[in-house]
Amino acid sequence: MEIQHNKLLRDYNTFGVQATAREFIDIKDEKQLLDLYNAGIFQKKFFVIGGGSNVLFTQDFDGTIIKISNKGIQHFIEGSNIFITAAGGEIWNDLVWYCVDRSFPGLENMALIPGTVGASPIQNIGAYGAELMNVMYTCRAFDTLTGQFKTFSNQECGFSYRDSIFKSKCAGRYIVITVTYKLHLNASLNTSYGAIDAELAKRNITQPTIKDIAQVVSHIRVEKLPDPSTIGNAGSFFKNPIILNTQLEQLKLDCPEIVFFPIDEHNSKVAAGWLIEQCGWKGKEIGEVAVWKNQALVITNKGMATGAEIFLVSEQIITSVLNKFNIKLEREVNIL
Ligand code: EPU
Repeated sequence: MEIQHNKLLRDYNTFGVQATAREFIDIKDEKQLLDLYNAGIFQKKFFVIGGGSNVLFTQDFDGTIIKISNKGIQHFIEGSNIFITAAGGEIWNDLVWYCVDRSFPGLENMALIPGTVGASPIQNIGAYGAELMNVMYTCRAFDTLTGQFKTFSNQECGFSYRDSIFKSKCAGRYIVITVTYKLHLNASLNTSYGAIDAELAKRNITQPTIKDIAQVVSHIRVEKLPDPSTIGNAGSFFKNPIILNTQLEQLKLDCPEIVFFPIDEHNSKVAAGWLIEQCGWKGKEIGEVAVWKNQALVITNKGMATGAEIFLVSEQIITSVLNKFNIKLEREVNIL
């Protein structure tokens, strides 16, 4: 196992910001994690990355970056259930297309989400009405505290909106190395969310296949979100805030057009993109940092932005939303 020193991280974060890591290790096989444990790496400062699509380096990293690059996807069918096990280092969208190509329904609404399989349970990824927590069966993780491997059931992951125990209670402790998904051969397709139905109609598709949905979702994402391979970004920078319905009712008095999604009898989720747009940020540029012109929830690097500059803009956005709406946005992206 090779330890690289003073590694440049620009190619390892989708923001494309420049920073260096004091040490960098690429893990291709889970057994290497035991070697790292025995070498005491986990007793010092470390951070695990997959596709680098949910991290902002605001300074050089004075520790060890561990990149998870193990590969492999397998499946078996039992009755109408399909069990798919994928290595943490697989690209999430490749897994989606593994399923689409075999007509296995369940992941197609999450096509083109950037990142890796290993990251998928950590923040319970989701898009267009689908969420990881509804398809994940188990995940196998390495415990950096004890040096043991542990399999988590879906329930043990403590999933909620963009959250799991891997991000909250046990943040930084476990490294997800394989994920098993349970899909159903006869699952019905979900086209009702967002612009999917409208885009299908535009294409004269009345009986969509799994592939049609994956293609339409990919098209909508490409239209709306900047492609990280050309414009540095990490998708949604903030989470959609969940607020009390009493506060929502107050806000509606001044802004009846506020965009929200009811959660339960007490809470609603407000579209952070809408809040940020109302504060005048959509399309705004500050030096090398820009707020995306088609979706104000996305902050982009025009090319030469530093992580610290991007962070500063995110602080300004949080302050203006707080001042205007009394809602404190939380970042979805990990700040290092
Ligand atoms: N909106 C605005 N202005 C904006 C952006 C959004 O007014 O600049 C309003 C619009 O009314 C829009 C609504 O907000 O209809 C919702 O916007 P969108 O459909 O883009 O969804 P979102 O809630 O902003 C979430 C996820 C995205 C995911 C989309 C689609 C979060 C934090 N983000 O965004 O995930 O692609 O739904 O399902 O939950 C990501 O996590 O990186 C990501 C891109």
